Amino acid sequence: MLAGATTTTLGSTLLLSLPFFSVSVLAHAGAHESARGLPGPGYWYQRDNHPVHDLFKRDSAGATDGVSYPAVGSDGWSNGWPTQWSNDSPTPRAEWVTALNAAVARKAIPTYAPSTVNEAGGIPTYASGLNPNDASVCSGTYGCAIPGDVWNAPDGHIGISFDDGPLPPTDPLLDFLDAQSGKPTVTHFFIGSNILEQPSQFTRAFTRGDDLAVHTWTHPMMTTKSNEDVVGEIGWTMELIHNSTGGRVPRFWRPPYGDTDTRVSAIAKEVFGLTTIVWNQDTADWSLTDSPPGTSLSAINSSYSGWLKGSKSPGLIVLEHELSNDSVDAFKAAWPEIVAEGWQISSLATLIGNGTVYLNALDDTAAVNPVQDVVLAASVGLPKSSSAAPTQSGANLQAGGTGAGTAAAGWVEYQCEAYCRWDEYRAKFFCSANRFTKRTL
Ligand SMILES: *[C@@H]1O[C@H](CO)[C@@H](O)[C@H](O)[C@H]1NC(C)=O
Ligand SMILES: *[C@@H]1O[C@H](CO)[C@@H](O)[C@H](O)[C@H]1NC(C)=O
Ligand SMILES: *[C@@H]1O[C@H](CO)[C@@H](O)[C@H](O)[C@H]1NC(C)=O
Ligand SMILES: *[C@@H]1O[C@H](CO)[C@@H](O)[C@H](O)[C@H]1NC(C)=O
Ligand SMILES: [Zn+2]
Repeated sequence: MLAGATTTTLGSTLLLSLPFFSVSVLAHAGAHESARGLPGPGYWYQRDNHPVHDLFKRDSAGATDGVSYPAVGSDGWSNGWPTQWSNDSPTPRAEWVTALNAAVARKAIPTYAPSTVNEAGGIPTYASGLNPNDASVCSGTYGCAIPGDVWNAPDGHIGISFDDGPLPPTDPLLDFLDAQSGKPTVTHFFIGSNILEQPSQFTRAFTRGDDLAVHTWTHPMMTTKSNEDVVGEIGWTMELIHNSTGGRVPRFWRPPYGDTDTRVSAIAKEVFGLTTIVWNQDTADWSLTDSPPGTSLSAINSSYSGWLKGSKSPGLIVLEHELSNDSVDAFKAAWPEIVAEGWQISSLATLIGNGTVYLNALDDTAAVNPVQDVVLAASVGLPKSSSAAPTQSGANLQAGGTGAGTAAAGWVEYQCEAYCRWDEYRAKFFCSANRFTKRTL
């Protein structure tokens, strides 16, 4: 299939080409637009704001799973969901409990009791004999990082995300992002109960290409919840996002308060195929509107500035919220410095997912692999490209070739072909089996 593909060795400009399909563009090395997705019928693999987009338009409507769902915000859309903001976690669907039981039966879910938290609040505590810092429990609240959970971004990168929406402050946040060069996209860890209340902000985030991820139905401390409650909190939020985005099932979730442990993260992974993302810096922006405020814009400015000017290893995952105009203002204030300090900026889910932000679709516009139920999305996986399989791509692409390109200082010329996509943030081609890195020109 890639018999005609050519590529240069690393000593010259990276150039990939295919006889039937090739695009050559000049893209500024510092541009912040992202390119993700594999090309195929009905969808295109560059964002609207990418230079390539002017050459080949994609279907702006975005692919769906072919099911007709009630329009987001319509009466039909809001019917049939669990109660919003109930004190109790929503009862899970029977299919999800079956998947939970299967995971328990294969001993994939630790069996210790949930943590408890007293009425007055405070942090969760575990039964005596259980150490929250031990690898067997590894509570995020106690700062323990479970292998496979994500706390850090790759070196040099900052992954941008916002928790607790959609809410009215989502609008000024998106206004701001839309006004920036390249209209950067971000990740939203959305709360199911809030989605039902804010359909317009939800739709706006989705249609601009932002990455949607899960932040539970009622925002509890998840380690205090039973296995079934954990499944209900996650499952309903996944289903609501699925039914409101043409069938996409999120790939990432963030536990409220970062409160996860080996039991909760295992349920997310084993039942739903979710990867848990926490953070490595906390602005405490959620407390700006507390009375009295827990922090101030100037305090956030100062700590944020320190992180941005500090080490780029590891990269940054900063906890931020679309919870109030103040918390959005804290991000707006930081943005010029994020750009000025030379970080590679991207939506957090795009960064961590290497461009794939849903379990059954690459992004908000690419083809969707239909699933009958959200618990099946991980096993169903991404849609297959309808083009011929790239059987020889790895060998051919690695072997080098005779490609050529021209370059000017600060610019890179590249060509894309059917099984590769250029990720501006990671500064890498993502191909079926390739290990190219971008050359500095
Ligand atoms: C979500 O969509 C599926 C079809 O994919 C449907 O079976 C289900 O009832 C919908 N959920 C709700 C709560 O409407
Ligand atoms: C938040 O900002 C928006 C405009 O950016 C404004 O319309 C809205 O009234 C503000 N909300 C509050 C609570 O101040
Ligand atoms: C801090 O405030 C200064 C002055 O307004 C601004 O230029 C800078 O971008 C801010 N930095 C952060 C990280 O908020
Ligand atoms: C993204 O790619 C990196 C480097 O190849 C890999 O370590 C990581 O597991 C990938 N992440 C996901 C979520 O697939
Ligand atoms: Zn939250």
